[in-house]
Amino acid sequence: MRIVLVGPPGAGKGTQASFLAENLSIPHISTGDLFRANISQGTPLGQKAQEYMRAGQLVPDEVTIGMAKSRMEEPDAAGGFLLDGFPRNIAQAVALDSFLDETGQKLDAVLDLEVPEDEVVKRIAGRRICRSDSSHVFHVEYSPPKKDGVCDVCGGELYQRDDDREETVRKRLAVYHSETEPIIDHYKVQGLVTTISALGEVGDVTARAMAALRRD
Ligand code: AP5
Ligand code: ZN
Repeated sequence: MRIVLVGPPGAGKGTQASFLAENLSIPHISTGDLFRANISQGTPLGQKAQEYMRAGQLVPDEVTIGMAKSRMEEPDAAGGFLLDGFPRNIAQAVALDSFLDETGQKLDAVLDLEVPEDEVVKRIAGRRICRSDSSHVFHVEYSPPKKDGVCDVCGGELYQRDDDREETVRKRLAVYHSETEPIIDHYKVQGLVTTISALGEVGDVTARAMAALRRD
């Protein structure tokens, strides 16, 4: 399957993507995680992305689209993938449409995670992620690690993301409404969108998402 996950910052896209990708045996491709990996490795791409991410702005399309395409061209993505955080504006959605057309692929579903803004703020404020792999995500209250400050999965150090400060979160939310939300209509025209509530226990949200993907 080829799936796009969309939703505001802190909706739980990364959290759900790990479970969905495992259930569906497809790779989880997160442009945010790819940027963070580049930043921690000190690559030129990471240096470029960092200034935009710190400011809560989108990294320019010419950097992002090329990076996402290369990842989708890797062998493990040949049978399908779950995109998390890409596309994030209309230009990226159009670029993805062309890439899929050119490579004889098509999207099966766009899953839209709906969460009220006050919940998003609580989720982001308590989020801690792992230094060695930013897809290992915890929450100090909702999904605390067994040992304070230590990743349950790999033993890495947990930290708060640079862009999770309150004023940056507000900026990211504003960018979501102005730049990213319009892609939902872009995909509605293609009949691909299912909106589900992302409130409640993580496992319940995963069950809702799996049901939506099976369309039952
Ligand atoms: P990115 O990393 O994609 O961040 P985001 O979209 O803002 O989303 P988040 O990672 O903040 O949240 P999430 O929905 O994954 O929630 P999570 O599962 O962690 O992007 C960061 C930046 O990179 C962007 O601002 C931009 O600068 C750049 N970028 C990335 N992609 C780009 C692109 N395509 N183009 C241009 N720039 C790009 O959950 C949040 C917290 O809630 C966690 O603590 C979790 O444990 C908890 N939680 C999750 N589910 C539940 C639940 N059901 N109940 C209680 N708590 C829960
Ligand atoms: Zn870890």
